[in-house]
Amino acid sequence: MASPMNGGDGTHSYSKNSTLQRCGLSAVEDAIKEAVMQNVETDKLLCGSTRFAIADLGCSVGPNTFHAVETIIEAVQHKSSTNNLEFQVLFNDQIGNDFNTLFASLPQERNYFAAAVAGSFYGRLFPSSSIHIAYSSGALHWLSKLPEGLKVKDSPAWNAGRIHYSGASDAVVKAYAEQLEEDLENFLRCRAQEIVGGGMIVILVGGVSHANVQHRSTVLFTFVEAILIDMVKEGVLAQEVVDSFNIPIVYACINDVRRIVEKNGCFEIVKMEMVEPVDIATAETNVVMHLRAAMEGTLIDHFGEEITEQVLVRAMRLPTHMMVDAAHGGGIFALLKRK
Ligand SMILES: C[S@@+](CC[C@H](N)C(=O)[O-])C[C@H]1O[C@@H](n2cnc3c(N)ncnc32)[C@H](O)[C@@H]1O
Repeated sequence: MASPMNGGDGTHSYSKNSTLQRCGLSAVEDAIKEAVMQNVETDKLLCGSTRFAIADLGCSVGPNTFHAVETIIEAVQHKSSTNNLEFQVLFNDQIGNDFNTLFASLPQERNYFAAAVAGSFYGRLFPSSSIHIAYSSGALHWLSKLPEGLKVKDSPAWNAGRIHYSGASDAVVKAYAEQLEEDLENFLRCRAQEIVGGGMIVILVGGVSHANVQHRSTVLFTFVEAILIDMVKEGVLAQEVVDSFNIPIVYACINDVRRIVEKNGCFEIVKMEMVEPVDIATAETNVVMHLRAAMEGTLIDHFGEEITEQVLVRAMRLPTHMMVDAAHGGGIFALLKRK
């Protein structure tokens, strides 16, 4: 299970280190507006009610979530024949997420009612047929849990000397792929129950165009892996502690995502395409700070605070251009309509 992003609004917080994720949204903002305007028929969806419910699944602490929600509301309002809609925004994330920071920084001038829904989006979160648009950005590549085999020393999927499936054995790759499939199936099964007929899911998630392509962000994991191996060689860390650590992230192949959606059968695929983030402010963006804001919790859970600090200090010394290139990972943009 993913550890939550760094909370608060300090130097290492996700709220101060999430411009790369924001660039992902910017790349598809117009497409989201267009899709909502073309596909969401508010009169049919609402059947006389004025409550329009939007869920952000894996919202973290902001500010990206506010921007996404505003984009969706603007498009719905543009399309709607009435101006008496009441928007309810359900901010979802794991229970450990810093919802206090999220709610303390809600825009003062907002045209929606806000509520938090804590829990995993791989399970049920909302009542049946209660959501009109679900949105999820930068979250679905986090697995619900590590594949079992990776935790067992005698298993073929024991990932000795590595911390991810990139460059790992076939057994490790297969274990990750099976977990991804199970998770996406659960995600779709739950959303199919929660989203009203004609409602939509908007997904933006790190992914790859072909099964044999490595997502560029995995280069960051390779850097961390090399740092950990150095620490083993220096006697700072035991080999087995590194062998038993694995990052619970899979960058899905777009064809697999399409196949899993089709297998679920409850959603029409309105759009499913690869996107490259635009406008990454490479010079100003500190990629290691982004890595830290997103991964520090996961590292601390396994290695403790002291070792994690050492890993991150070493990562800060890596050449910036290597890190920046790694951060230019592409993503999958999917618009699904509940049948
Ligand atoms: C990189 S952040 C993305 C935040 C925001 N959507 C954005 O685009 O900036 C990923 C978020 O997904 C959340 N997340 C990961 N797995 C989750 C799960 N199973 N259920 C709910 N949230 C999850 C994490 O806690 C984290 O806050």
